[in-house]
Amino acid sequence: MYLRKSIIALTGLFLCIFLIVHLSANSLLLLPESTARELYNSYSTLLRESILIKIIAYVLYASILLHAGYALLVTIANRRAKAQGYQVNHFRQNSSWTSQNMGLLGIMILLFIVVHLANFWARIKLGIGLEVGVDAQGNKDVYEVAYSLFQNVYYVLFYTVLAIPLGLHLHHGLKSAFKTLGFYHQKGLRLLARISLVYAAIMAIGFGVIPIVVFLK
Ligand code: HEM
Repeated sequence: MYLRKSIIALTGLFLCIFLIVHLSANSLLLLPESTARELYNSYSTLLRESILIKIIAYVLYASILLHAGYALLVTIANRRAKAQGYQVNHFRQNSSWTSQNMGLLGIMILLFIVVHLANFWARIKLGIGLEVGVDAQGNKDVYEVAYSLFQNVYYVLFYTVLAIPLGLHLHHGLKSAFKTLGFYHQKGLRLLARISLVYAAIMAIGFGVIPIVVFLK
């Protein structure tokens, strides 16, 4: 069980780092179009063409699968133990709604990722669906893919609403990843709780607001 939880924690921390980089890149969409289109598209091309980034992308896909797969196994094992009358969580009364519903939040995020990969990744990397045009520099116009998607109010709602379960999941997940990996320092844990809150808020607000701003531009 400890090995499974450690894998969930380590892959989760890697995904947290990915989200910082991903949000920073997507913040370019908020700049004026004259600079944003070229910057966003050339950054996106650079990532697609770099061997190092290709390797990191495979680690990313593996991390998502391992994180979700082992989380599912641990949730099933906990449910079974509970059904058999074992007291799995002695602090149930004191634990938050989020900590009790990490599985549900995770499923919502997984649903988001599947739709999101179909919106962007499948079109841009796999060439599935509507063809992606090129910009004046000859780079794939990923900027246009984002802007045309967020003209649709249902997609804006989908991205913005699902940023809430993402934030809740990250808030609890970041704290518990460090605890799972053996971080028990009392003062450190209090600081970690604050860092997790700030991190989760930045991610939820950032990913939630970008589609709205693009829609309104
Ligand atoms: C405003 C919100 C977001 C925008 C505009 C956005 C944009 C993009 C774009 C353009 C790509 C394709 C990059 C390329 O192939 O050139 C991508 C890939 C991806 N995004 Fe997002 N993203 C957003 C939010 C998220 C969130 C919240 C998550 C995770 C919970 C996420 C996870 C991923 C993953 C896993 C990939 C595949 C990575 C790869 O390119 O190999 N994205 N996103």
